[in-house]
Amino acid sequence: MILPLTTIPTPSLHEPSRVLTKKEILSPEIQQLIQDMIPTMHKEQGIGLAAPQVGVNVKLCVIGKDAIPEDFVPHMTSENLILINPTYQRTGRKAVLETEGCLSVPGKQGKVKRYKQIHVEALNEHAEPISFEATGYLAHVAQHETDHLNGTLYIDKAETTWEIE
Ligand code: CO
Repeated sequence: MILPLTTIPTPSLHEPSRVLTKKEILSPEIQQLIQDMIPTMHKEQGIGLAAPQVGVNVKLCVIGKDAIPEDFVPHMTSENLILINPTYQRTGRKAVLETEGCLSVPGKQGKVKRYKQIHVEALNEHAEPISFEATGYLAHVAQHETDHLNGTLYIDKAETTWEIE
C-alpha cells in the first residue's frame, strides 16, 4: 500500500521518534509498515524514507538500493537497506557540502554539511544487529534518514536553501 506523506509544517516531523523493541520489529504491524514504506519511497522517487515521513514516529527508515554501493550488497538481507534504531558516528575528519532535498519539504533544495565517513549501528528487519562503515552517497543518505528519526530535517542544518520549480 502506498502511504500518504507527512510534510512540513507537521510538528511530528520535528519530534524524536521512539526506539522499537525486538518484539515490535517482528510484529505484523511493523513488518507491514516496512513493506508499505518501500513502494511509497519508490513512487515518490525518494532515495530514502523515514517512518515519521509517513506519520509514524518510530525509529525505522529504508534506504533505496540506488544508494547502496556494489561492495556492500553481500551484507544486504533484502533489496533495500532497512535500518531500525540506527545511530551513526563520524569516523573520518572530512565533511562534505552536499545538495539535498526531502520528500517532506517539497519544492526546496539546500546545501548541507555531512560527514564523509560514518560508522552505523542498527537492527535490520529481522531485529538482528548490524553495523557498517559508510562513505560517500550511502553515508550522506544514512545521516539524512537517521536525522529524521531524531526529529531533525535537513533544512535545520542547511547552510543555504532555495526553491525549485
Ligand atoms: Co528526508
